[in-house]
Amino acid sequence: MRQFLIAGNWKMNAGPKEAKALADQIAESWEDKDTNSEILICPPFVSIPFVVKRFRDTGLKTGAQNVHTENNGAYTGEISTEMIHELSCEYVIAGHSERRAYFFETDELVAEKAKKISDSGLKPIVCVGEKLDERKNDIYRDVVKNQTEAVLELLDSSDASQLVIAYEPVWAIGTGETATPEQAQEMHAFIRNLIADEWGQEASESVRILYGGSMKPGNAEELLSQPDVDGGLIGGASLKEESFSEIISIAE
Ligand code: G3H
Repeated sequence: MRQFLIAGNWKMNAGPKEAKALADQIAESWEDKDTNSEILICPPFVSIPFVVKRFRDTGLKTGAQNVHTENNGAYTGEISTEMIHELSCEYVIAGHSERRAYFFETDELVAEKAKKISDSGLKPIVCVGEKLDERKNDIYRDVVKNQTEAVLELLDSSDASQLVIAYEPVWAIGTGETATPEQAQEMHAFIRNLIADEWGQEASESVRILYGGSMKPGNAEELLSQPDVDGGLIGGASLKEESFSEIISIAE
């Protein structure tokens, strides 16, 4: 039985001041909730300490949006897993489509990041997903297969229970357009089968696969009720306490 993970990715939104206020709202509304899901927020690096502080002793978790593959050294502007660990984060996102598109992260680099995250005792949330033209040209399965297999080759089946994959069709991110529940389920089952082929059935059953791409209260129920959808990676709707809390309630 996989535990739902409802994760908010704040992207480059919510600096320290705003993050403190938003974390406060989320923590307050969380106080009255009885949920079996795991709840995570990934703020920008500069805001992480404030969110960690507010979430302490609440059960709410904090993660990072990116990481470098080295431990330290002359990598101006970069952050290491050790630093993220020291901040008491539990998860790190790797290979978000925005990083693949704007920072030219390749499948190989994303896999290296996932390996580094995993080896350092943090949990990787690896994002995969096709662009609109790749879906239209019917090559979306190949794209997602390559992205997923690069990671499965570097990690191994003993990492399965700590690994999270987020299927995020790029055409659904921030566009208001969402994959239909059927489209999401098809791709989640496809990804789980890839894991089963590489690591075996049992390991594949313990990897959580999140859906991301315009998830909001209005579509969360249908998406989260699909058998292979184990939660959501939520952008825009995680920046509003009411929407995020509503999705948490729907996940129950
Ligand atoms: O990481 C989150 C995804 O990119 C989804 O973003 O919910 O704003 O579409 P969105």
